[in-house]
Amino acid sequence: MTAIAHPNIALVKYWGKRDVARNLPAVPSLSMTLGGWRTRTTVTWGVQRDRFLLDGVVRDDPRVGRFLDHIDADRPPVEVVSDNDFPTGAGLASSASGFAALALAASHAAGRPRSPEATSVLARLGSGSACRSLLGGYVAWPLGTDPEGSDSHAIQIAPASHWDLRMVVAVVDAGPKATGSTEGMERSRRTSPLWSSWVADGPGEVAEASSAIEARDLERLGTVMERSTFRMHATMHTSTPPLLYWLSATVALLHEVFALRARGIGAWATMDAGPQVKVLCEAADAPRIESALAPHALETHVHGPGGPARLQR
Ligand code: PMV
Repeated sequence: MTAIAHPNIALVKYWGKRDVARNLPAVPSLSMTLGGWRTRTTVTWGVQRDRFLLDGVVRDDPRVGRFLDHIDADRPPVEVVSDNDFPTGAGLASSASGFAALALAASHAAGRPRSPEATSVLARLGSGSACRSLLGGYVAWPLGTDPEGSDSHAIQIAPASHWDLRMVVAVVDAGPKATGSTEGMERSRRTSPLWSSWVADGPGEVAEASSAIEARDLERLGTVMERSTFRMHATMHTSTPPLLYWLSATVALLHEVFALRARGIGAWATMDAGPQVKVLCEAADAPRIESALAPHALETHVHGPGGPARLQR
């Protein structure tokens, strides 16, 4: 069974867990699914022994076997073959599209298909942000109230057709990230003095972003998106030891985005647990924004909103 899923970029960030084992978030979040890039995953249920191939290389990643155990604790050995058409593990949300595609392909391969909500819950167990990659367009991930997490799954705010925005991705370093997100989130929760205000602000920021999306108001959406990313990075920077995912090129790109805005061009920046900068803008402005960012980046890519994860027969 084969499934494909797109990465997503959070407009309002998820950073922090209230339950590490279940990947239940401390804050709600909201994302745009990216068209263009994708993960394609084929699962064969019942082979000689567990095997995981990522981008053509056999990997020893215990997260995959543990994830498959959620589908069936008495499962047979399973083969998972996954390919990304973009850099893996560099803060470009490869774990999001990866676990979304795996949740969909593996539940069908096991003969245990689930509702879209339950598939999103399953993907969340692999990587929190993966629950958002099951759906297309503009997607929220609410906190939920069930201690088991059955209601902490993605919901669509608006389909891709609602608003044809662009996300210009400036890649400054394609290597793997220094500190993984679970370790980083726990460090911030334990040590950042900004933690409680970060958690308290989340619900209002998601509400503001949802209403900006509904109204197709880019200035409001861009403003809340940039505020969310800077507040998240402030909790990272004020952790002990500090989490600094930015490189000098990241800062140069941020100044470029501010300079574009000073010239009246609608461009707003967001960054994840890596040095890349992603810039939200109208489709018509994407070419000149891409040209302005390109001198500071190794590569640039332009994405519109993408569709949901789906099976490929
Ligand atoms: O899903 P994880 O555990 O890889 O966490 C992703 C966290 C951020 O990318 C930094 C923010 C987000 O909401 O995607």
